[in-house]
Amino acid sequence: QDGGNAFDAAVAVQFALAVVYPGAGNIGGGGFMVAQDAEGKRYALDFREKAPAAAERDMYLDPKGEVVADLSWRGALAAGVPGSVAGMFALHDSLGSLPMADLIDPSILLAAGGFTLTEKEAKKLNSRIEDIRQYSTLPNALVKRDSVVGGDSLLLPMLAATLNRIKEDGQAGFYGGKTADLIVEEMQRGGGIITHEDLLDYDAVWRQPLVGNYKGYSIISMPPPSSGGIALLQLLESVEPYPLEEYGPLSPEAIHLMVEAERRTYADRAAHLGDMDYYPVPLAGLIDTAYIRERMADFDPAGAGSSEVVVAGVPAPESEETTHFSIIDAAGNAVSITTTLNGTYGACAVVGGAGFLLNNEMDDFSSKPGVPNKYGLVGGEANAIAAGKRMLSSMTPTIVTRGNDVRMVLGTPGGSTIITSVFQNIINVLEFGLNMQASVELPRFHHQWLPDLIQYEEQALPAKTEKSLEKLGHSLKVRSSIGRVDAILVRPDGTLEAGADPRGDDTAAGY
Ligand code: DON
Repeated sequence: QDGGNAFDAAVAVQFALAVVYPGAGNIGGGGFMVAQDAEGKRYALDFREKAPAAAERDMYLDPKGEVVADLSWRGALAAGVPGSVAGMFALHDSLGSLPMADLIDPSILLAAGGFTLTEKEAKKLNSRIEDIRQYSTLPNALVKRDSVVGGDSLLLPMLAATLNRIKEDGQAGFYGGKTADLIVEEMQRGGGIITHEDLLDYDAVWRQPLVGNYKGYSIISMPPPSSGGIALLQLLESVEPYPLEEYGPLSPEAIHLMVEAERRTYADRAAHLGDMDYYPVPLAGLIDTAYIRERMADFDPAGAGSSEVVVAGVPAPESEETTHFSIIDAAGNAVSITTTLNGTYGACAVVGGAGFLLNNEMDDFSSKPGVPNKYGLVGGEANAIAAGKRMLSSMTPTIVTRGNDVRMVLGTPGGSTIITSVFQNIINVLEFGLNMQASVELPRFHHQWLPDLIQYEEQALPAKTEKSLEKLGHSLKVRSSIGRVDAILVRPDGTLEAGADPRGDDTAAGY
């Protein structure tokens, strides 16, 4: 409405979510952006958190070598060095068109003037008030009341002041000056290890976007340190030879095929993926068509595989609570951003005097080989903790194009289920012909190698499908809702169709 482009909108949304959606929106966390501009140029921006310089491989283990429960999940020690503010400045400096101050001002107003909680948000905050009090070392406005209800307003004056310092001093208003002092003081009171130097050292990194092909469509997604892009391309390549359209949505044939692709892909993820600046991820080998065909060679249409038998492949070696938003502007710029604190409200530790929550992204590292993290994901050497390293992510901001024409912009939160939700939605649209909203609403299922079972949303599976899958030898388990996909579909005539996920309070808007 103010004449900016999709990149300006993305920056403004990221800051606004840090205020009105504090469970996941953030300045204390990180994320990834995948974009294509109006000229067809593609971008991948990595503003993932980094392990502090004092981080060590075994920092979450006790003297006996066992993982200490919740040490990588709650409190200041769970936090990686935040990347979101650096990410927004990198994005704005390269592709924005309006002054940064104009993009931060609305968020300052929201924080200083207050905003209204929805029912769902009030419920979510209530579920964490005790933890936020326990793990923050000073009182803060987020948990001033013992409980909140939908319709209550929240005022976050310290966060407004922090945002104002960012507006006045740019990136240095977060990584230096008073905000940095407050972060380091919080670390000292709360047992964390992030230093002034860690903050000054943080840089967002432009990476080569990962581009694959599915039946003539280009799939543009995030390379490491997210596993999302590689895994998504592996999944699509695995199912491409099969007649999915014929099978139909939520049919046992489609689910069986997709789940077996997921079993193999997540086994590879656990063994091979991590921050490529620290570990030689065999990227090209993993998405090589011949390798994927070989991986799927033992796929049996008549029976479930076993995760004891199906382990990570050997690709050719080579010379790694969340929220998502999708934006397209009139000029044709398309932006896909997934950003996170990791768990809902992150480490539940608010930086005293600065009013924002710290992430608990360190839990995305593999604290000990083979021991599952909060999302049940296992890993090893590739994703071991090391100073300065970025923890492996599943975030999968994605754009689908035909040639250079944008067809879909999509992504979702959901930890380990992010990749499979993006996979499903691409298949829902390209194979099953669903419109964007119907695709987003379609019940979801998920397999991640270990545990060896199909997790699915209640009502997701027609009773007949459930029986057929059990007969094939699959174990099935109902779980809470999976992801919140927010996506845009460009119709052949150029008009836009949005899918806003009813699992959240998500909405679509056009101007
Ligand atoms: O980067 C990742 O894969 C996780 N930290 C994402 C966490 C997430 O999606 C939580 N939201 N439901």
